[in-house]
Amino acid sequence: MTKENGRFVTFEGCDGCGKSTQLKLLSEYLQQEQIEHIFTREPGGGKISEAIREILLSGKNAEMGDECEALLYAASRAQHIKDRVQPALREGKLVVCDRYVDSSFAYQAFARGLGFSFIEKINAFALEKFLPDVTIFFDLSPREAFARKKGADADDRLEQAGLAFHERVYEGYLSLCEKYPERIVKIDARRSIEEIAKEVLSVLKARGCF
Ligand code: ADP
Ligand code: TYD
Repeated sequence: MTKENGRFVTFEGCDGCGKSTQLKLLSEYLQQEQIEHIFTREPGGGKISEAIREILLSGKNAEMGDECEALLYAASRAQHIKDRVQPALREGKLVVCDRYVDSSFAYQAFARGLGFSFIEKINAFALEKFLPDVTIFFDLSPREAFARKKGADADDRLEQAGLAFHERVYEGYLSLCEKYPERIVKIDARRSIEEIAKEVLSVLKARGCF
């Protein structure tokens, strides 16, 4: 729990799981219902955090070591909490964040193999004081996500290399769902956009987010 007045919701899933589509629909609903909220994202969500995002996601930094990558995600998170998450929660707003600390567990701890306890340590600030009230995990395997995006290309060899990494990310998310059954709600993302959006709203309502 965040010890603040607002509610903190995070969206998680493998690349291509439909997160952006669902964030857009939730945004439309919250605006229509005039529910006070902010949308934000990680890595990023503020001036310094967005600058760190540039470093992290730039193709020019391909030689970056796994530890440096994990520390930069954690650094970006610490600044993002200070700049955007904490102030909005203090004002009693709903904070909806596209990716958060579970991405570091799935991508850096599990897929990169840095291990859970290292990621836990460097994210202690977020985990102790700013754990989300609800995390929605959009459950779609990377194979299904690739097939959606690329159709027949999903089976080509280059995609296969990427696929192995993303399969580990997916396995990581499934273990997180088991580790945090109270906080993480798994939603079957293979269904229609409308069905998923309906379930997102019903989960958030049931958890007292609005
Ligand atoms: P993400 O933000 O997780 O990468 P997107 O929301 O951009 O994913 O979705 C990836 C692709 O899949 C887009 O082309 C989108 O239109 C499509 N898509 C999203 N949700 C669904 C769904 N439930 N069923 C079929 N296609 C979907
Ligand atoms: P982005 O373009 O925002 O991807 P998506 O639309 O799938 O959310 O890029 C974010 C990338 O950063 C994504 O591949 C996941 C990765 N990431 C981590 O590896 N660790 C983290 O802690 C976070 C927040 C993101």
